[in-house]
Amino acid sequence: MTRWHLTAVLSVLGLATNCGPKGAGPKGPEAKAYGAALVEVSGGKQVAAIGTTLDQPLVVQVNDAQGGAVAGAAVSFRAGGGATVIPPEGLTGNDGQLTVSVALGGVAGRYQVTAITRDKAGKTIEWRTEEIALGYQQNLGRQLNDRYCSRCHDPESTAERVSNHDNLNAKPHAFTDGAFLNNVSDADLTSIITHGGAALNKSPEMPPYGGTLGKADIEALMAYIRAVADPPYRLKGLVYASN
Ligand code: HEC
Repeated sequence: MTRWHLTAVLSVLGLATNCGPKGAGPKGPEAKAYGAALVEVSGGKQVAAIGTTLDQPLVVQVNDAQGGAVAGAAVSFRAGGGATVIPPEGLTGNDGQLTVSVALGGVAGRYQVTAITRDKAGKTIEWRTEEIALGYQQNLGRQLNDRYCSRCHDPESTAERVSNHDNLNAKPHAFTDGAFLNNVSDADLTSIITHGGAALNKSPEMPPYGGTLGKADIEALMAYIRAVADPPYRLKGLVYASN
């Protein structure tokens, strides 16, 4: 919980220091065109270890009112909590897109990244996403997940792994499914991971891991599951949530 509070405070500070009056900060590139909307192409909601650069770049696009791509629009980025966006501003290319990379800060938690552009009238258009930084234990959990769990729990296949999700009769939840997993207690998570589905009158397709994984491994997996939950696990009521 302290961790979340800290990240929350840092996010707010990050916003505050970058929110000066118009023209106070470093001047970005001069806009050659203006759009009406800012959308994400890819790269939001990634998960990586603290202090690392996200695997995938963040790509945003500026569109006009008809949904057509706008080249030469100026976009600037703000990131909270010590995360950095490189470059912090730029002009969209011929495809209307701007690609940046995001380096996470040193504290585990969620980092808010905001992209900003202006329309012809000078009105600010903002788009916002979150990237998740994992601490040591959570990152260990992520590695165990890659090795043992994701082939069934992640419905998406990747270059390295074909998902088995669609072949199962009972559909396991993705670990990002906070709407479901936030309501499962730590005790119940430990129990199903240790003893498998059959022991809990659930599908025997969920194997027991008590013989393969130690207590610390199972705790790391739980820490990972809590860290990637969307909506976030126990974040209700923090100032940050209303930003
Ligand atoms: C062979 C496929 C498979 C693998 C591998 C697997 N699971 Fe599951 N898991 C399932 C299925 C199927 C269910 C749903 C059981 C039900 O609802 O009856 C499930 C359910 C769960 C649940 C209860 C929540 C839910 O999704 O319904 C948790 C927690 C869980 N698994 C954790 C893990 C962890 C952690 C690992 C890796 C250490 C893992 N599972 C590996 C198939 C798998």
